[in-house]
Amino acid sequence: MHGMTRAHPLPLCHGRYNADSIPAPAGALPHAMISFSGQPLLLDTLGRPLRDLRISVTDRCNFRCTYCMPKEIYGKDFQFLEREQLLSFGEIHRLVRIFRDHGIEKVRITGGEPLLRRKLEKLIEMLAFYDDLDLTLTTNASLLKLKARALKDAGLRRVTVSLDSLDNATFMAMNDVDFPVDKVLEGIEEADRVGLTPLKINMVVKRGVNDHSVIEMARYFKGTGHILRFIEFMDVGSTNGWSLQHVVPSRELVAHINAEFPIEPADPNYRGEVAERWRYQDGTGEVGFISSVTQAFCKDCTRARLSAEGQIFTCLFATRGTDLRSLIRGDASDDELSAAIGRVWSSRTDRYSEIRTEATAKLRKVEMSYIGG
Ligand code: GTP
Ligand code: 5AD
Ligand code: SF4
Ligand code: SF4
Repeated sequence: MHGMTRAHPLPLCHGRYNADSIPAPAGALPHAMISFSGQPLLLDTLGRPLRDLRISVTDRCNFRCTYCMPKEIYGKDFQFLEREQLLSFGEIHRLVRIFRDHGIEKVRITGGEPLLRRKLEKLIEMLAFYDDLDLTLTTNASLLKLKARALKDAGLRRVTVSLDSLDNATFMAMNDVDFPVDKVLEGIEEADRVGLTPLKINMVVKRGVNDHSVIEMARYFKGTGHILRFIEFMDVGSTNGWSLQHVVPSRELVAHINAEFPIEPADPNYRGEVAERWRYQDGTGEVGFISSVTQAFCKDCTRARLSAEGQIFTCLFATRGTDLRSLIRGDASDDELSAAIGRVWSSRTDRYSEIRTEATAKLRKVEMSYIGG
């Protein structure tokens, strides 16, 4: 399928792909080929280091977003993972320690909905021990008002909230469980109050479904200090009925927002940043565009994903993972686990978004609610 791979639709001055000139993230060892622990840096077959670990702590969610967990598939008979199948907090902690030795600098807790995992703040507390890690979490915010304070006290740094519209009818139709917008906004306010900042808001834009909400969302979050990011609807998994017709290319959104509130490109915060940053010309903040469909960013992809049951995936669009749980529960030593992770990453070839076609979009890929966004 043509037109789906990268074609520089946004101004070249934006410069993500001149990424060599981009400084390393704060706290990183700039261009050093060693990790925090002093081990040689692990690189995949395309020379990409392992920097970012996303950990799914549950495959369950209390929403049924039509683009992620459609009700027809995730109905009452759906077999979610049983408790004993999930990695324990101790097992996750151990893996994070080993991943850290391989160079990870950021840990994102995801799901499903991570706040559904009981006593999540205990895990946060365990992981916050590594104060050089950027520890963050992605949530639908349904439980955020309740849990923000405990998460902050446990050492979580910041949160990212998924919110697809401020229009109640549109939002309820998208989450498909009639969850009201106000409750999400209350969660955002509480997270802000306790200092889980900078807060990011993720809006998946689906043509004909919530694209009419884009300007209202921009207006609402402009000037709040929260960073709104527009995400192109992706062909993750194989149950969300994806079609290119539902994708609103970021370049179209940039033009749309620019017509209402003038924006200009801003430099990436770090090499490989997923979102392209644009700032409001009147100084009231920034917005981001995540363009996996029209502007693939695999070239600098440094992310590994750990599923709730302990499989490691090296791409969001993977069709299979590598089981680490059986190693852990089979009494593997730290060195053996470390070597297993090393083998997975060093043989990694993934660049799905760069090679996406209508045919690959139909592959049986692992679901995002299982692997973590
Ligand atoms: P920070 O920079 O740490 O705030 O996070 P981030 O920019 O990595 O963003 P976040 O984790 O919130 O990811 C936002 C969304 O981008 C996800 O929900 C996905 O939809 C998409 N995304 C994140 N990582 C990838 C990736 O590796 N590949 C693709 N194709 N999409 C991704
Ligand atoms: N396309 C783009 N983003 C998606 N997310 C879930 N499914 C998709 C998809 N098909 C996003 C959610 C949330 C994060 C966990 O992943 O909006 O922000
Ligand atoms: Fe749940 Fe997030 Fe998926 Fe929506 S996008 S169903 S909130 S995991
Ligand atoms: Fe990374 Fe795969 Fe996403 Fe490309 S498609 S950016 S390789 S996770």
